[in-house]
This record gives sequence, structure tokens and C-alpha cells, in this order.
Amino acid sequence: MAIIRCLNTFAVLTCVLLIIVYEDNTICVAFSPSKERQHSSNISYRIIKAQKYSHNVSTVPRDQCGIAVERRIDCARDRSLSRAECESRGCCYLPLPQSGLRGPPWCFYTVFYPGYKMGPMLPTERGHRAILTRSAPSYLPRDIHTLQLDVMAETQDRLHLTLKDPTSPRYEVPFVKSQSKGHKSMENPLYDVDFQPEPFGFSVRRKSNGRVLLNTTIGPLLFADQYLQLSTSLASSTVSGLGEHYTPITLDLDWSSVSLWNRDMAPHRSANLYGSHPFFLVQEGDGQAHGVFLLNSNAMEVFMQPAPALTWVTIGGILDFFIFLGPSPQSVIQQYQEVIGYPMMPPYWSLGFHLCRWGYTSTNITRTVVQLMRQAKIPLDVQWNDLDYADQRRVFTFDPQRFGDLPQMVEDFHQLGMKYVLILDPGISSASPPGSYKPFDDGLKKGVFINNSTGQILIGKVWPGPTAFPDFTNPTTQDWWMDWIKDFYNKVPVDGLWIDMNEPSNFVQGSVDGCPDSELEKPPYTPGVIGGQLNSGTLCVSAQQYLSNHYNLHNLYGLTEAIATHRALLKVKKTRPFVLSRSSFPGLGRFSAHWTGDVRSDWEQLRFSIPAVLLFGLYGIPLVGADVCGFGGDTNEELCVRWTQLGAFYPFMRNHNDRPNAPQEPYVFSQRAQDAMRMVINLRYSLLPFLYTLFHHAHTSASTVARPLFLQFPTDPDCRSIDRQFLWGSSLLISPVLEQGAVEVMAYLPPGTWYSLHNGQTYYSKGQYIVFPASLDTIIVHVRERSIIPQQAPALTTAISRKNPFTLTVGLSVGNLAKGELFWDDGESLDTFERGDYSYLLFFAEESYVVSKPIKLNGSLDGLVLGEVRVFGVQTPPTAVWANGQKVPDFSYRLDTKVLTVAGLELPMTAKITIQWS
Ligand SMILES: *[C@@H]1O[C@H](CO)[C@@H](O)[C@H](O)[C@H]1NC(C)=O
Ligand SMILES: *[C@@H]1O[C@H](CO)[C@@H](O)[C@H](O)[C@H]1NC(C)=O
Ligand SMILES: *[C@@H]1O[C@H](CO)[C@@H](O)[C@H](O)[C@H]1NC(C)=O
Ligand SMILES: *[C@@H]1O[C@H](CO)[C@@H](O)[C@H](O)[C@H]1NC(C)=O
Ligand SMILES: *[C@@H]1O[C@H](CO)[C@@H](O)[C@H](O)[C@H]1NC(C)=O
Ligand SMILES: *[C@@H]1O[C@H](CO)[C@@H](O)[C@H](O)[C@H]1NC(C)=O
Ligand SMILES: *[C@@H]1O[C@H](CO)[C@@H](O)[C@H](O)[C@H]1NC(C)=O
Repeated sequence: MAIIRCLNTFAVLTCVLLIIVYEDNTICVAFSPSKERQHSSNISYRIIKAQKYSHNVSTVPRDQCGIAVERRIDCARDRSLSRAECESRGCCYLPLPQSGLRGPPWCFYTVFYPGYKMGPMLPTERGHRAILTRSAPSYLPRDIHTLQLDVMAETQDRLHLTLKDPTSPRYEVPFVKSQSKGHKSMENPLYDVDFQPEPFGFSVRRKSNGRVLLNTTIGPLLFADQYLQLSTSLASSTVSGLGEHYTPITLDLDWSSVSLWNRDMAPHRSANLYGSHPFFLVQEGDGQAHGVFLLNSNAMEVFMQPAPALTWVTIGGILDFFIFLGPSPQSVIQQYQEVIGYPMMPPYWSLGFHLCRWGYTSTNITRTVVQLMRQAKIPLDVQWNDLDYADQRRVFTFDPQRFGDLPQMVEDFHQLGMKYVLILDPGISSASPPGSYKPFDDGLKKGVFINNSTGQILIGKVWPGPTAFPDFTNPTTQDWWMDWIKDFYNKVPVDGLWIDMNEPSNFVQGSVDGCPDSELEKPPYTPGVIGGQLNSGTLCVSAQQYLSNHYNLHNLYGLTEAIATHRALLKVKKTRPFVLSRSSFPGLGRFSAHWTGDVRSDWEQLRFSIPAVLLFGLYGIPLVGADVCGFGGDTNEELCVRWTQLGAFYPFMRNHNDRPNAPQEPYVFSQRAQDAMRMVINLRYSLLPFLYTLFHHAHTSASTVARPLFLQFPTDPDCRSIDRQFLWGSSLLISPVLEQGAVEVMAYLPPGTWYSLHNGQTYYSKGQYIVFPASLDTIIVHVRERSIIPQQAPALTTAISRKNPFTLTVGLSVGNLAKGELFWDDGESLDTFERGDYSYLLFFAEESYVVSKPIKLNGSLDGLVLGEVRVFGVQTPPTAVWANGQKVPDFSYRLDTKVLTVAGLELPMTAKITIQWS
């Protein structure tokens, strides 16, 4: 293929079309946009032509089959094909010696495989448009013969490309796109795009270095009613994303695939789990990164191969691609969240410790749990109940005997400064005698439920028995949901809602009546999902919802329920809603927290909870954690201690257990284990001011909270795939023990100076692994040089700890510099940042002083004091210390660790504070 470089920039402001036809038939088309669109004037589109486009379906020329084995794109994904069948599809058939379950295909496309032909590109309101036509039918039923391509240079770092049917509208994903703030500069786009008209394909290059990020000409574009496929080369083999799966932080490209179809499925390998996130980030190898988001909610399978390359196959909707140019990995995540929305600001209490189990079968038992936690002096902010509370497992009710005093119990918890959350499943019991269960009767009357394909309410089976499923895409349903949440809240003043089972999960396949034998239920191609069928463990996909059928909307069920629940809580409580959702889709983080579902109590699941949590951070759902000590199966003391240590650094920390298992509340273990758990939960509580400030940044600028090392140290090749350690923001490095019996950790410290958070001991790293002793009561945490961490003395609840004296922990750089900050508000009012109702402090250290400087004050810090300053890395022993100019008698300095501690202070946080030493 000849590539001709065309003009790169066009200064002309009126609409001009330049066509240059070169001798070898390469066409170069460039548009300069009209005045309104002058922003996109610096993107160059090049149109290039395949050298020898010739294809004869019955005889594939052998020379076109000479594709390197690792670059073969499978032409027989739907079933295995004989040579004759393969060749009749127009594909190459070249068997390989060994065949396993995974490996290169024998039947594969050529790069000239007939696809679409692109017509001329014309400018539009938002970018450029071309019509694509398919010359010959593909082997798929119901090809879409004509496609409309729109190319929109939306910002200098975001390219948006859609392919849809211009003649008859197809389903497009609702709810997700949110215009978040973020810079919108169009000057000097970071990308160029090349188009190959026939067979249609495009490539995207990073302008600065010419790197090809995507090249879709390596395989055909297929676009049939129920089968859409596009392949692309990848710029490197370091790819993260495409959740939710049980994987390390980077994906395996060795002929593997992942399917995206929300499913109630305990985390295990090769299974589609609760959520779908068709977004991935590629580390390009030199510290730069880009991301690709395919906004499509249909069942999808993404195939990966070592070329490196990847093929999207989705079975409905349109192709709606966003490409984010970074160039830093953190900016890729921010650019992604500009499309799907920045995460909500969580209430402060939700960062405390949560305790739950299925099997707290009465208020008495639940009250006892709280009592025992308090006796053990272990912080607990939020007590939970699973479905035990509900009368005959029906939501919006509570058992009159076992939970008869539920309202009083919640009030009592509130008196203790605690919060209370309970489970709310979407399935509405449909089998109660008429008049005995109003949420159903009312829903029936209002038509809020999902119908089956013949227009009657679809009945499935969940915990209460036969159930109907609310259709949250219907505005009437959202109002009905709000009414019933309000009705319940007026009796039981819950502080948040836990929306479980919302994939949605169904204990019968499809419905109690089964599912019709249709092309929706049994599409020409079904992605590799657990159970083999789309309706396994969920609803018939032919079911009808307000906006479309369940086939299209399935993956949005949890998101739409989260939106409705968030809205209802907002209405009834008028404070920041707390919602915890199991099922997820892009955009969920605006409304909800997430936990990683039914993890097993074992060491492997402990270890894989780290990449799971980190990946959800990339998906814009920073408030996430795994069930501490594991949910399924019996835990044991050592595992539970180690899990509590790691869990203390999940952004969301909840211990939750399944009904039949050995108990795992901290107080059931030995004194030694309890001490270790208390210590680390106290450590978490002491760090909550810092964690809260990180959430503020996530909410206002989409920065990550629990952060993979590669995001912070993108140019350090050793960080590329580390997922046994992680950071909080840019400053705290957490290196937990993840193996049974281990009493040390081999932890990687990126180049620079690091201090033990516990005692300030200094480590100078060249970028190396260091072994740290980690007895059962220890989790290894390091403070990065140049950072100042605001802390606060812990307490049994955040209601109390929020009033305690602050501590500043300062990690000096070699040049004695450090900085940090604190975002503070009342912890629960709505939109405090947006309304300017918050306080903001900056901290900095230079030479021999530390300063706390209020930038903005709002009364939220009134009465709060700075009690202590710890300075790590003070090289010269100080002889005197001054606080705001007054000599401090009470300071200590350790020669061995070089830590200066100034304690016993009582300095108002609302004033400028200077601590100086010499
Ligand atoms: C395709 O190949 C077949 C068999 O060689 C030949 O008969 C036919 O004419 C060819 N068609 C075209 C369009 O080249
Ligand atoms: C195009 O790029 C040039 C430099 O490459 C820059 O000076 C100019 O402002 C850009 N124009 C627009 C409209 O972005
Ligand atoms: C894209 O891939 C095709 C097929 O492998 C190759 O011929 C072409 O050079 C690639 N384009 C770019 C820009 O790398
Ligand atoms: C709960 O405890 C109270 C007071 O101890 C007792 O009167 C009541 O019977 C208990 N309820 C249940 C259901 O065990
Ligand atoms: C489902 O059926 C009910 C009752 O026939 C009707 O009110 C409702 O509009 C239907 N919903 C949809 C999405 O078709
Ligand atoms: C829809 O539900 C009704 C009532 O339960 C049932 O009779 C009918 O067979 C169902 N239709 C399908 C296609 O399952
Ligand atoms: C807090 O900020 C809001 C908005 O700027 C302002 O109206 C209010 O008076 C402030 N409250 C205090 C106590 O400073």
C-alpha cells in the first residue's frame, strides 16, 4: 500500500475540497472546514488506496494468504469450517500443525477481503461524513448494505468515529454520554487519520511521533443486523480494560477473548462477570498511552491475538468509537471520563468501615454485632443487612417479627453516630395475593415492568420466588421506584441502598415460560458467555422495555437501576446519595459505588482483588472494593487479617460474608488478630482526610484514587504490569502480603525516596525490589518524597474522627520540598464544591519549615486543630522548633530514622500555620 503524505494543515477557512490523484491511484483528500468548524482544521485526513484490490471469492490468490500467523484474523468464529466452507466465504484455509483450544485460526481473512467501499468525504456540522456501500453480500444474514461514517474531531485529544445505518435507525446506547467539564481545545490535534476506501478501513496515528495506534485495514469491516465486526492492530501488547473479568491488570493477548455480558457470576477465570466496560487503555511503551471506547451495550466479544491485534464483535447497535490520545495514561482516563461523566462525590461516612453478612437474621443479632464491634473498639461506620430483613424476601417490606423494631434499630445506630444500609433487589414478588403486596399491585397498574415478547409481564424467579422486573428505562418506573423508596424510607430511615442482583439475575432461564425460539434469543453468533445463551441466568432477551428490547438494553440494567435509585435517594434525603451496585456499565460512577461481587475466601481471590479494584478506577468508578475476608466459603484468621489489611486500602471497605460460612467479623478472631485488624482500620481512619481529598479530585478532575503504578510512573517499564501493589493518589504506596504464611513482602519502589508510613524509615530506590518484613500485624505502606499527607486521629466512627486533631505527615524530597492539600466540607451536603461551600488548605514544606495555608474557608474547619506534625527526612538534627513563631518545648527527633515529630499542638486549622525548625 502506497502512502502519500498530504498537506497537514489547511489555513483556508471556506469549504474547499482538494483531491489529488496520484499515478498509483492513491487518492489524497483533504478538507478544510467552513468557519464554524475551523476548530478541526488542523486534522489531516488522508485517503489511501490498497495497491491491488482484487478479490475473487471462489479463488483466493495464494499470495494473499501469506499473512504472518500471529496476524491472521479468524474467519470462522461462529463455527469450525471445512476447507470448502472456508473458501466459499472467500477466506484462506491454511491448517497449522498443532491445534489446541487456543491458537491461530486455520481459516482467516485476507487484507483484501471484500468489505465496504467508501464514497467521497464531505464536511458536516460536526466533522466529516462519508457513505460506505457493500458491493457484494457477506456470508452473514442481513448485511447492512449502506453505512454512514461520521468522523468528529471533538477535542485535540479525542477523536469520535461512528458507523451507522443512514436509512433505518438502529439502537444507540442511551444514558451514558455526559458532557463533563474538561478542556475542549481543538488546536493542534494529537492525531491524524488515514482512510482506505476499499476495502474500507482507517488508521489513527499519533502525530508527534507517527506511531500507528489503530489500523483497521488488517481485517474486514462486517456490519450485519446481528453481527458487527472490526479488527485493529494495537500499538503494544500492554492492554488494560474490557472488564469485568477475573484478570490481572493487563490482558492476555495470546489468542484469548473476553465477553461483555452482565452476569450474576462469582469471579473466576474466562467468565463474563457482573459488568461490561468496552474501554481499554494501551501503554505504548515509552510512557505514552491512548484509550479506545466502543460505546455499544450489546453482547460483545473481544478477541485478542499476539500480533498484537484485537477484534471487536458485537451483535447489535452501531459502532461508536471514541479514541483518546492521552498522551499520559492518567490523561487517557480523564479524557474517557469526559465522555462518560466524572464520578460522584461520596459522603464522608461511606469511606469508613462497613460490616455486613447474609445471615444477620434479626435486629437483635444485628444490634449485637454492633455492640461487639464497639466492645472490641474497632471502628465501624456502617452496619448493613442483607435480605434477611425483608418480609418473605420482598423488598420495601420488613419482617414484622425478626425485624419488627428495624426503624428503632436504625435510629439507635444513628444515635451512635453510625449509618445503616440495606439491600434492595430489583425483582418484585409477583405471586402475593392481590392486595397483599402493594409495590407489585401499584407497578402492575402503572405498567412499570418488563414485558415478554407477547406483551405480558415477564415473570422470572429470584429470592422471593416469582418476580417481575422493573424497567428502569421507563420514566414511569423511575417515579414508581422513587415512590416506594420514599414510602420505605419514611418507615426505615436508611442512609444508603445496596442494589444487588441487577444484571439482572434470574434463577430460571429467561422466564418461567422459557423464551421464544427467535433470532434475538439465538442470534447467528452468540459471544462466548457463561451458560452458552444470552438468556442464561437472566431475562429472555426478546423481552420488551420502554426504550428497546432487553437484547439491546441488558447490559444497562444495573446502570439504569442505579440512576433511578440515586435519584430517589436524592429526593428523599437531600444529601449525597450512597448507592452500591453490583452490575455496572460506563457511567455508573456518576451514581454509584461498586463491589466486586461474590469473591471466594481464598488467597488467589485476595490477590486478584487488586487488579479488579484498580480497573474499576480506570472505568470511572473509584469507590470500589472487594468483600473483605471473602464472601464465599469459610475464611480463616490469617487470610482475614491479611484481607483486612488490604481492604483498609480499598477505596470502599466492607467485610461481607455468605450465610453458610464461618463468621468473620473482626471480633470473632483471637486477640492478636483483632489487634492487627483494629490497628489497620485505625490506620485507614487516620488517612480518611487524605482519601476524601483524593475523591474530591476524582469528582472534579477524574483523577484516580486507588491507582496502578503505571499511571503514576508511566515511563518506568517495571511498573507496566504491577498489580500486587498500588498507590493512593500519587503519594502512598501500598504493598500488602498476599500469600499464606508470608511474613515479608517483596515490593517494588519506583526511583526516588520513600518513607515508611509507620516510622519514617527512609529508602532510596533506584527503581528496585526491596524485601520488607511484614509480620501478621503489618501492612507495608510508603510515603513518597515531596508529599504531605493530612491525617486525623481515628475514632470508632467518622462522625467523631472528623472532629479530632489533624496530623501532617511530611515526606521531604532531597531538596527539602513537599506539598499536599486538604479538601474539607460537612461530608454529606449536595454539590458542596459546585456551590463553593467547602474549605481548602494547601500544605508545603521548604528548607526547614512546613506551612498550612487556607486557600478557602467555609466554616467546615471551625474548631478543628492541627495536633501534630511528623517530618520525614530531616537530615540535620534540629535544636529548636517554633510553631507560628512560638518556641515548642515538646518535639522529638530520631537520629536513626531522621524523623522530627512535633506533637501536642493545638493550632486552629482555619489560620495559616508555620512550623519551623533549626
Ligand atoms: C473467479 O475465479 C473463477 C475460477 O477461477 C473464474 O471462473 C471467474 O471468472 C473469476 N471471476 C472473476 C470476477 O475474476
Ligand atoms: C493549527 O496549528 C498551528 C501550529 O501547528 C497553530 O498555530 C494554529 O493555531 C492551529 N490552528 C487551529 C485552528 O487550531
Ligand atoms: C495497516 O495495515 C495494513 C495491512 O497489514 C498495512 O498494509 C498498512 O501498511 C498498515 N497501515 C499503517 C498506517 O500502518
Ligand atoms: C430481641 O431481644 C428482646 C430484648 O432482649 C427480646 O424481648 C425479644 O424477644 C428478642 N426478639 C427476638 C425476635 O429474638
Ligand atoms: C407492558 O405491558 C403493560 C401491560 O400490558 C403495558 O402497560 C406496558 O406499557 C408494557 N410495557 C412495554 C415496555 O411494552
Ligand atoms: C408471556 O407471559 C404470558 C403470561 O405469563 C405467557 O402466557 C406467555 O406464554 C408469555 N409469552 C412468552 C413468549 O413467553
Ligand atoms: C460557605 O460558602 C457559601 C458559598 O460560597 C457561602 O454562601 C456561605 O456563607 C459560606 N459559609 C461560611 C460559614 O463561610
